[in-house]
Amino acid sequence: MPSSFLTKLNSAQSVFTFRDFILLPGRSEVEPGGIDLSSNLTRRIRVRLPLVSSPMDTVTEWRLALEMARLGGAGAIHRNMPIETQVEQAKKVKAAKGDFLSTDDRGRPLVGASVSPVDRERCLALDRVVDFLVADVAHFHTSKVMGAAKKVIPELSRDFVAGNIGTRQAVFDILDELPRVDGFRAGIGSGAICITSEVTRVGAPTLFAVAEVASALEERRVELPVVADGGIRGPGDAALAFASGASTAMLGTMLAGTEEAPSSITVRGGKKFKTHRGMASAAARKVRFAIDRYAVPAKGLDEGVEAYVPYAGKADGVVAMMENGLRAAFGYAGARNVEEMWKKASFGSMTAVGSGELGAHSLELKR
Ligand code: XMP
Repeated sequence: MPSSFLTKLNSAQSVFTFRDFILLPGRSEVEPGGIDLSSNLTRRIRVRLPLVSSPMDTVTEWRLALEMARLGGAGAIHRNMPIETQVEQAKKVKAAKGDFLSTDDRGRPLVGASVSPVDRERCLALDRVVDFLVADVAHFHTSKVMGAAKKVIPELSRDFVAGNIGTRQAVFDILDELPRVDGFRAGIGSGAICITSEVTRVGAPTLFAVAEVASALEERRVELPVVADGGIRGPGDAALAFASGASTAMLGTMLAGTEEAPSSITVRGGKKFKTHRGMASAAARKVRFAIDRYAVPAKGLDEGVEAYVPYAGKADGVVAMMENGLRAAFGYAGARNVEEMWKKASFGSMTAVGSGELGAHSLELKR
């Protein structure tokens, strides 16, 4: 008779990452140009391009948020700044003139902001300015955060996205205990700058997290969008996330090197870079503790790294590459839109050995 501990190991759930799967080709009825990539970012907000820039202090301030709105996606302004500054940043986006593919009902650029539900003052201040609020908490599925969310959500007029989460149980508890939520942000531990899972051996990799969350919603027959967040390195990863139930994909590191991201260009060894860091890195946490009285250094642990990312030019180049790649992936998978991707796409599972065959191989690349 095996002990209960052995049973736990023997019955462990398989946890999948982007590297473990590919999409199988499916019969296609449309050309890539005819594919409709529009999707719901929150319950009430639909975007033409299902890409959201991450609320990190080296990624989304007003400039990138504005550019994302111009291109048909959206940006969520980070919260590593005083409340008034975050409000000013959002107002700057709202006041901008130009042609925007993502707009509010008054034709102004769409913009979101990240908040902690524990910081009621920030939630209420941003709720008056932005179109959507995104919870920016490493582990939303805690009694403290959910208790705070339960209190603040009825006071909000804008859509509120809960996250980050990565399990079915988190969805069930949120649906049962909170008055309402308008979307979920799924993925714990997959971010490029993230070391949570390395340090703690706890995590819900994004592809797995999205499938867990989307399956739980399906089980409850609740239609709410899921944002796939963390570890997306290109259009293929985003396509996999859509196939496993995501409605939009959140990009951090992919956009951190762009012109519109906040940090300045640094030249190292003759090449251009921008600095980038996890929001739970020592440097980002230091800023947080200095400005946010709700940020309690409870864990005393760094869960993100500081790094350089190659300068990537204007964000529209990165976004166009993502859009073109997504159109191609949808075309191969035989899906005309995100909803068809959920229903029609089928996965092939890769072995670690086999995945070497999928890139360029057996040759010397010309660089
Ligand atoms: P990518 O891979 O797009 O991921 O850069 C962005 C997402 O990573 C999360 N994030 C963190 N996770 N420690 C973490 O464990 C951190 O310091 C950290 N900073 C950001 C976050 O969900 C973001 O959207």
